[in-house]
Amino acid sequence: MAMDAQLIKLVNRLQDVFSTVGVSNPIDLPQITVIGSQSSGKSSVLENIVGRDFLPRGTGIVTRRPLVLQLINRPATPAAPGSPATDGEPAADGTSGDNQDNKNEWGEFLHAPNKRFYNFDEIRKEIIRDTDEKAGANTGISHAPINLRIYSPNVLTLTLVDLPGLTKVPVGDQPKDIEIQIREMLLKYITKPNAIILAVTAANTDLANSDGLKLAREVDPEGSRTIGVLTKVDLMDPGTDVVDILAGRVIPLRLGYVPVVNRGQKDIDKRKSIALALEHERSYFEEHPSYRSKAQYCGTPFLARKLNMILLHHIKNTLPEIKNRISAALQKYQAELAQLGDPIDDPSSSTANVVLSVITEFCNDFRNLLDGTAGDLST
Ligand code: GDP
Ligand code: NA
Ligand code: MG
Repeated sequence: MAMDAQLIKLVNRLQDVFSTVGVSNPIDLPQITVIGSQSSGKSSVLENIVGRDFLPRGTGIVTRRPLVLQLINRPATPAAPGSPATDGEPAADGTSGDNQDNKNEWGEFLHAPNKRFYNFDEIRKEIIRDTDEKAGANTGISHAPINLRIYSPNVLTLTLVDLPGLTKVPVGDQPKDIEIQIREMLLKYITKPNAIILAVTAANTDLANSDGLKLAREVDPEGSRTIGVLTKVDLMDPGTDVVDILAGRVIPLRLGYVPVVNRGQKDIDKRKSIALALEHERSYFEEHPSYRSKAQYCGTPFLARKLNMILLHHIKNTLPEIKNRISAALQKYQAELAQLGDPIDDPSSSTANVVLSVITEFCNDFRNLLDGTAGDLST
């Protein structure tokens, strides 16, 4: 998984500490949303961030309903003897061996409760099947979201939203006002102040015409929650590159741009694994004369790191509020105990104080860690 393991550990510890005082989900982590033109590579980017193969991707309108993907962190249970302990390793032949069953990771759809999908290819099939059912099989769209939860020890508990692409000309069963309809749909998700917007633009198209960037600017004019993602860098004309864009000389963006190379259609058809695709992406940037000197700021791992930084900052900013909520809860609890008897002698009252001091200590540790690691977001 592309998510930072240290960050996952920290948030788990935080959740544990808070659940001891009856506060579940103390941190409302931001939702990560992708917007951009049709086939700019939105689903591909999202899938690479999650690190599993499960989203329908391809040319034309493939994503036709919002997909609200809730990742839920759940500790691994020890492997039973004789069980397939694959843990997402790629198959030796470079195909999507990471889609082998692993009993610690599964998906569940809201529309099919109590059915666990351990095979991620089956998750993709179910997304396609339910899309056809609700939006018709002929390119129609539907505003009704598909809600998918993925339980795994390797993810942060957080929500990602895959969305249809901005398009102008209706095809097939699409309504005449398809452009307006998709716009409204996207606005509904990206207007939330809690949304981090990945504005995806294919590098082989003109940035000035980027539908994603234009829409992002409407809801986030300051650019405080918009990251520019440049896909298809590998498909640019020879002799051209995105160096000027990265340097902020074309359309500057506060949080900057990250160039990526996703799997092309041929790779999808050949079922190339995410692991191999990331390897290819890494060597692409390291060997390219235009990017060699800045390869560390290119590619999916850097995008994931940037997202982790944003999440860390969000948690840091949320901590004081969480602490206030908890100490208020504890005060109420202590007042109730005081009515029942002498609070000083009451053992549960001192338990409450211990919990509070554990939390305070945690918050301090967390802040120190952040000050030590969380560098400049705009690099
Ligand atoms: P979406 O419609 O924006 O969700 O885009 P998809 O993720 O479905 O991708 C659309 C098509 O573009 C697929 O055929 C992908 O294989 C291809 N594609 C996406 N990103 C890249 C990239 O970085 N390089 C190449 N060569 N192809 C890409
Ligand atoms: Na597409
Ligand atoms: Mg898509």
